[in-house]
Amino acid sequence: MKKNNLIVSFLLVMVLISLSACGSGSTTTSSKTTPAPTTADTAAKASEAPKKKSSYLIGMSQANLGEPWRVAMNDQIAAAAAKHPELKVVYADAAQDNSKQIADVENFIQQKIDLLIISPNEAKPLTAVVKKAYDAGIPVIVLDRKVEGDAYTMYIGGNNKLIGKKAGEYVAKILGDKGGNVVEVKGLEGATPQQERHDGFMEGIKSNPNVKVIASQNGDWLKDKSITVMESILQANKKIDIVYGHNDPAAEGAFIAAKNAKRETEMKFIGIDALPTPDGGIKAVMEGRLTATYVYPTGGKDAIDNAIKILENGEKVEKSITLDTLEVTKENAADVYKQFGGK
Ligand code: FRU
Repeated sequence: MKKNNLIVSFLLVMVLISLSACGSGSTTTSSKTTPAPTTADTAAKASEAPKKKSSYLIGMSQANLGEPWRVAMNDQIAAAAAKHPELKVVYADAAQDNSKQIADVENFIQQKIDLLIISPNEAKPLTAVVKKAYDAGIPVIVLDRKVEGDAYTMYIGGNNKLIGKKAGEYVAKILGDKGGNVVEVKGLEGATPQQERHDGFMEGIKSNPNVKVIASQNGDWLKDKSITVMESILQANKKIDIVYGHNDPAAEGAFIAAKNAKRETEMKFIGIDALPTPDGGIKAVMEGRLTATYVYPTGGKDAIDNAIKILENGEKVEKSITLDTLEVTKENAADVYKQFGGK
């Protein structure tokens, strides 16, 4: 009986040992069905979250670097991007040529840029290639001039209609009840600010029926072209009271033409842009060549701020951001110059 008891106890211990061995075996099995996360697994999970990269390539397609305002835009982009060492910006200059700008964007798409910033020369011709980039999954920030439709991530720019309206109201006010003859030196035909600055201006002068637009021609945003355009307008019109230039180079070009014809004191000149630089519009107001100009921010810094939101934070940005303007006359020009960091 004693011996039997011993055998039973021995068998019991053996069963317990083998059960515990089974137990450890089952742990191994269960660890196979629910594996503990490995480094490789963690990396795989991270790739499902918004893609964070150690560096980003941004393509900046500029309409025409031959204009001071656009040089300022690129400079502001570069300065803002320099604060983010992980951003690399590559620039292309279309030199006011739509087909060159289309090729520039095509080239960026092939380079597999992470984001496109574009200030399109003209709206219609650039619409398809902007859509192509957007459809390829590249976030697109359209700056200052628009494209048609809405195949882009966001638009950033000033309110050109409002600026035109303010200029029109200012002209209506300074001409008073007597009214007067106005010449308009417009921008480039297919660029959206051209139409918007014209439409806004016409609305602004409406309150004064004696304000007459006697000539309206395209200076294509360029000072030299605006000189030529103004020369023929001066010959055809014996009395001009105001020249409304769609940008400061247009107004300055018109001033040069009038001065060459010894008629610059006969009329006042109004522009748009107000760059805080020695040869910009604010100084031109301070020095008396222009009577007024309107701040038209380039949006360069805003573009980079939003690029960061899109690329690094995976944020959904606003479809359209409107930048502020300011009327600059001799009353506030010196202050505005300082306020905008002019040197
Ligand atoms: C430069 C420029 C600016 C103007 C803007 C309008 O190309 O003509 O002077 O404000 O473009 O898009």
